Amino acid sequence: MSATIIDGKLIADQIKREVKRDTEQLMRERGIVPGLAFILVGEDPASQSYVRSKGKACEELGFHSITEKLPPSVRQEDVLRLIHQFNADPKIHGILVQLPLPKHIDEDEVIMAIDWRKDVDGFHPINVGKLVIGQKCLKPCTPAGIQELLMRSGNDPAGKHVVVVGRSNIVGKPVANILLQKQAGANAVVTIAHTGGGDIAQYTKLADIVVVAIGKPGAVTGEMLKPGCVVIDVGINRVADATAKNGYRIVGDVHFASASKVASAITPVPGGVGPMTIAMLMKNTLVAAGG
Ligand code: GUN
Repeated sequence: MSATIIDGKLIADQIKREVKRDTEQLMRERGIVPGLAFILVGEDPASQSYVRSKGKACEELGFHSITEKLPPSVRQEDVLRLIHQFNADPKIHGILVQLPLPKHIDEDEVIMAIDWRKDVDGFHPINVGKLVIGQKCLKPCTPAGIQELLMRSGNDPAGKHVVVVGRSNIVGKPVANILLQKQAGANAVVTIAHTGGGDIAQYTKLADIVVVAIGKPGAVTGEMLKPGCVVIDVGINRVADATAKNGYRIVGDVHFASASKVASAITPVPGGVGPMTIAMLMKNTLVAAGG
């Protein structure tokens, strides 16, 4: 068997076109231009590259955007002051603080400082709580993107056993909470497998849909999967590659060569979940702006 490739780039482009259309309508009818503020602390190359890509998407869609770059030594109170400034700015509808933050900064306090109505990452405890109890809210972008990928590739999770590998606040926990809701595009039976439970293969082998978000290159292989399952690979890992121009290449958390022989459908890395995260960020910003 050879799996169908779920083209995240194609689906993300489709969502961005929809967002662009709705943005033009919002501008025409109510004179609102969606505005997104990025806060980037430090010089982590991956974070810089993510923020650059997100800023480019804003340009493409005609959003107003501003990027504040802060030195790695920045004080907590200065980050908070900047957030308060964006909270009060009527031109800014979304605030994104790129994670991770340097160790001396209290991530929880930073997230809590963001006005939850502008929390386009869906990380504020109010949005997290709303998500868990099934209320309308801003949902974390990568998990929301995974739901869209499943639905738009014809893999409705309803009634399926989804095994999420990884329990992070950014992906594992929210994607589990999204997919188990008694709502359209969800209604799955969800298991979260993690490092506290020993061998993850005992769980992944039972899954109709596997979502892997653990940040370990190639950790899930074909022999850990049930034949015909759908595989969503959230990993973005830089591994050394002397033959590559920049000395590294990007691989996922799934061993693609073996997994694609067992699965019925699989997301590639790059070009799978990654582009969806950005598309959903744009959608969240449009919604926060009133669109
Ligand atoms: N770091 C890794 N993923 C994300 C994300 O979705 N949002 C933010 N703000 N930081 C991240």
